[in-house]
Amino acid sequence: MSINNAEIKNTRKLYVESYGCAMNFADSEIIASIMNEHGFVNTNDELEADVIFLNTCAIRDNAETRIRERLKHLRMNKKSNKDLIIGVLGCMAERLKDKLLEEEKLVDVVAGPDSYRDLPKLVAEVDDGGRAINVLLSREETYGDLNPVRLNTNGVTAFVSIMRGCDNMCSFCVVPYTRGRERSRDAQSIVKEVVTLFNDGYKEITLLGQNVNSYLYFGGGQKKEFKKLTTEEQSEAIDFADLLEMVALAVPTMRIRYSTSHPRDINEKVVRTMVKYNNICNYIHLPAQSGNSRVLDLMSRNYTREWYMGKIQMIREIIPNCGISCDIISGFCTETEEEHQDTITLINEAKFDFSYMYKYSERPGTPAAKKLSDDVPEEVKSRRLTEIIKTQNAMSLAKNSARIGSIVEVLIEGNSRKSENDWMGRSDENVVVVFPKANEQKGDYVKVFVERATVTTLIGKTLNQ
Ligand code: 5AD
Ligand code: SF4
Repeated sequence: MSINNAEIKNTRKLYVESYGCAMNFADSEIIASIMNEHGFVNTNDELEADVIFLNTCAIRDNAETRIRERLKHLRMNKKSNKDLIIGVLGCMAERLKDKLLEEEKLVDVVAGPDSYRDLPKLVAEVDDGGRAINVLLSREETYGDLNPVRLNTNGVTAFVSIMRGCDNMCSFCVVPYTRGRERSRDAQSIVKEVVTLFNDGYKEITLLGQNVNSYLYFGGGQKKEFKKLTTEEQSEAIDFADLLEMVALAVPTMRIRYSTSHPRDINEKVVRTMVKYNNICNYIHLPAQSGNSRVLDLMSRNYTREWYMGKIQMIREIIPNCGISCDIISGFCTETEEEHQDTITLINEAKFDFSYMYKYSERPGTPAAKKLSDDVPEEVKSRRLTEIIKTQNAMSLAKNSARIGSIVEVLIEGNSRKSENDWMGRSDENVVVVFPKANEQKGDYVKVFVERATVTTLIGKTLNQ
């Protein structure tokens, strides 16, 4: 019996591995949906895959080093499957363009963040014996019309991408070059995706973008400042607070989170919208990057320490118990010891619940790489990072300890990492909570009495036990 080519192609298996930020994990779901429409089925087993895509991150050098090692390892799978196609997608693909394809011959396909619709065609080019690349960036692409296929899902929480790219040009950051210009997705398509998730049984969504607070949809895809819109566009324009409200109203029993906020763009309208709707979680990720105004200026963050603290105060005045987290970089170009101390005191003053903390990693092509000297020695960067982590850990422990004796509402996401006998979920303020299982199910909301606290976790028991 002969099997025709189309039938063979219809059963080809796709394995996608994601690195880096939540945006990348959301993009992988778009990638899978595009490939599935073209007959590929998803697999979680790289050894049975016909196509392996790594959706990559370029934000720090060590992310790229890890991915290179992984590519070298994956290439060995070709020995047992010579038709295996390996693709590198996302930010590292965009940054290195044809380097991995031509010079290092590590991969067959290279595709940047705006060219995923082209993936089936790129794979077909490789089938025909070539290597294939598309790293064009777009001013309009939002993949807004696609229905992402949920990968590795817990069935409870999901990401919804609301915009792409970034126009902020922080001097250390490669993202504006790898993800292109900022553009906002059609608000109605966002609401539609959220409602689909609700109908599929999801309980919580996180609206995602590099800088969600500058979301602005006015009918056209490209970003424009509000004041530059025509009167008609202005009357129809939907900003981030409007979008939050639309989503909160569309799915009143779903929890809504969002990330990431830029301190320049978060405003009272957004925070007041959070208060107005019970289902919008009291949690804001508000990266400061540094606590020193001179360093912030060199970073082109466009705010001072005082201005940042003003935003923290505004949030705490309106939502006193709001969870707030931060991103911090240690050892940025020319940072002195005193300036580093300003970051330490910022953690104590702002009282972050937790932070993502990194050593500065120079990225080729960024304004900092071009204009500033990466002159803080590696061991000083490491020591400062250790001090930052120590300070944040003490703050996290203090904040979590203050929650002992309180009752928190938790959405159960699944088993705790340490024991199948315990559930893990998050409080409204985004704190991880662990407690022994009774009769609950994944996806249930439960009230948990907090008995103990660690740096990262609240431990307690449900009230109905
Ligand atoms: N080096 C170290 N950390 C960086 N980040 C972005 N670029 C760099 C870099 N070159 C961090 C910032 C940002 C987070 C996503 O990654 O803190 O908020
Ligand atoms: Fe990078 Fe700054 Fe944009 Fe964040 S806001 S993605 S740090 S340029």
